[in-house]
Amino acid sequence: MEIFALENNFQLADGNAIPALGFGTFGIFDRLHQENIIADAIACGYRHFDTASLYGSEISVGLGIKSSGIAREEFFLTTKVWKDDMESSRIRSSLESSLKKLQTDYVDLLLIHWPRCNSADAQWIEHLNEAFETFILLKKEGKVKSIGVSNFLVHHFEALKTAERPVVNQIEYHPGYMQQEVVDYCKKENIVVEAWSPLGRAALLTDKTVLKIAAKHKVSAAQVLLKFCLENGVLPIAKSTDIKRMQQNASLMHFMLDANDLQELSDIKQNTGWSQEHPDFAIPSARVGDF
Ligand code: A2P
Repeated sequence: MEIFALENNFQLADGNAIPALGFGTFGIFDRLHQENIIADAIACGYRHFDTASLYGSEISVGLGIKSSGIAREEFFLTTKVWKDDMESSRIRSSLESSLKKLQTDYVDLLLIHWPRCNSADAQWIEHLNEAFETFILLKKEGKVKSIGVSNFLVHHFEALKTAERPVVNQIEYHPGYMQQEVVDYCKKENIVVEAWSPLGRAALLTDKTVLKIAAKHKVSAAQVLLKFCLENGVLPIAKSTDIKRMQQNASLMHFMLDANDLQELSDIKQNTGWSQEHPDFAIPSARVGDF
């Protein structure tokens, strides 16, 4: 089987490199002892794991990595600070807790998970700036190698006045929900865009345009959608609990979508597969264990 060149990287503006395909851990629950899923992903060659304090997956990721016997430095670990923890001391304790669960003394990437706590928060700009200033300090202290954000739109970036800028923005991105304005802004500002739910929470896997293009290239619908991200310069965070699908999602190098394919995928009806979440108005309130 041909493995996607998992050693391929995107270059971050701070000089660090990030593996070009991430493994998503939303939906993997520590309390269900799902570290075997992480072990399978490692066996398939994944080294970039995307976690969050919210997901409740960090213990499983830490255990999976530890039991692999592979050196910590071989992995790229992301975690996120949840929107209710944006105050400086809460950010610090959130990160300490994440590090403990992940069994490491640094993360490769720390993200602000959501730009605002709730739509009524009149002080969201102050909170955001305080949070990112704290991130900058954590980077100086060596607990974090790179710092970024998630679910940011252009006006959130414009509200952020810190001297050091985020190097990553992780957003929902797939045909039907491409958020072109913020993607263009990030490209201009040298911010790597990562795609969460690149398969549109599986809704796009049965889309007739996606299936037609998949048949043309003799690949799966998921492979088309992941390749669509990469060819648009966006880093996909792929997630699957099944080892065969993990392998399939990591095998992306043997075909190329052409300009026509990319256009047809971009033309898929707006909001197909959209999560209905919006950074300012439809803010998830769930905490770990609520899912
Ligand atoms: P499973 O864990 O059973 O593989 P998204 O990342 O857009 O949120 O989509 C994730 C969903 O897509 C999960 O339900 C996952 O289910 C499914 N999925 C992931 N990879 C594939 C694949 N290669 N083929 C079919 N379904 C997939």
